[in-house]
Amino acid sequence: MTSAAEVVVRRCRELAAFSEEPGVTTRTFLCGPMREVHALLSSWMTGLRMEVRVDAAGNLRGVYPALSASPDAPRLIIGSHLDSVPRAGPFDGVLGVVIAIGLLEALEGSRLPYAIEVVGFSEEEGVRFGVPFIGSRAVAGTVDEDLLSRRDRDGRSVADAIRAFGLDPATLPDAAARGSLVGYLEFHIEQGPVLERLGLPLGIVECIVGQSRAEAVFTGAAGHAGTTPMADRRDTLAAAAEWITAVERHAFNTPGLVATVGGLEVTPGAANVIPGRCSATLDVRHADDAVRRSAVETLSAAARGIAERRHIRLTWTERLDQEGVQMDSSLTATLERAVTLAGIPVHRLSSGAGHDAMIMASIMPAAMLFLRSPGGLSHHPDETVIEGDVAAALEAGRFFLGELARS
Ligand code: HGY
Ligand code: MN
Ligand code: MN
Repeated sequence: MTSAAEVVVRRCRELAAFSEEPGVTTRTFLCGPMREVHALLSSWMTGLRMEVRVDAAGNLRGVYPALSASPDAPRLIIGSHLDSVPRAGPFDGVLGVVIAIGLLEALEGSRLPYAIEVVGFSEEEGVRFGVPFIGSRAVAGTVDEDLLSRRDRDGRSVADAIRAFGLDPATLPDAAARGSLVGYLEFHIEQGPVLERLGLPLGIVECIVGQSRAEAVFTGAAGHAGTTPMADRRDTLAAAAEWITAVERHAFNTPGLVATVGGLEVTPGAANVIPGRCSATLDVRHADDAVRRSAVETLSAAARGIAERRHIRLTWTERLDQEGVQMDSSLTATLERAVTLAGIPVHRLSSGAGHDAMIMASIMPAAMLFLRSPGGLSHHPDETVIEGDVAAALEAGRFFLGELARS
């Protein structure tokens, strides 16, 4: 007999095959393969007689009615994201949606005093448009014109992408969560080393650290690599390289700060041409928002100083300033009781990774349960989970639903 945990792991790996790149998992906002993800998840949810729809932001949403069958019944939302970073692992995001469906299957048709809405968010990573959380911002009702007009590298806007997927941006207000919202619960891999080092299968998230994202574009002068004297150059990749080492040095020298230049685009990108333009992305995180913001200031000033000294133009664009978010104490206490009832030691930790829970927390109580990440590895094809930890998460989830029903 296949266990529920085995089914969860198998389903995540099945969904991982739906990708923009063959052989790896790359699934960005409203890409074609997202339709296949929607179809497979929908088949499992309609099998539970759930009402399934795709909202105007491309979020997949399935409702498991309450015992009263009333559309106005209190509602618990359990969700996570369906998009991925390039060459991702099979569990980041998707695991939370598949576990939610597994919990509903375990109810075997019984109903609760509240409805459960399973949400697969369309976009959390911020890969295609440089800004994360488009899906959960639609559910939170915070999508604005600035976001809809953001353009991807092909010049298409978020609104264009929504229309190209066959959806209508004008109906985005219908995506906002309404009614009596009991809370939001997200199951997610830890994506770090803490639980593995402690030998624990599960962790309770206390808070999610804030994050800043920005883009630095260095514009200098392309030129012939063989004939241009070094003193005459305005080499933008050399400028970016100097800045990137300054970013790393500042992060090493600032306790608790992490800073990453993950994206670099060089133009024209030929070996015998001095780079005339270079764009670099910046991701900065820290548990204290003031320290994070001060670091962004410092790194922006460093980029400006390097550009000036090299007679290069700098264009600095802030993409995100997401404050750190505390999880809801009461819902988290319910989650702690459930983890204890499942026979698992309770360990609270903060999340260095961003999650949809930080957006959903703006409209309803939010709580998160982490599963151990073997090797602390994520945002990598070898990202994995331990089946026993998935079983523990399902057990804690079952107790959580029961505790919530009694509260
Ligand atoms: O980048 C993050 O923190 C998350 O994986 N989206
Ligand atoms: Mn991620
Ligand atoms: Mn994630």
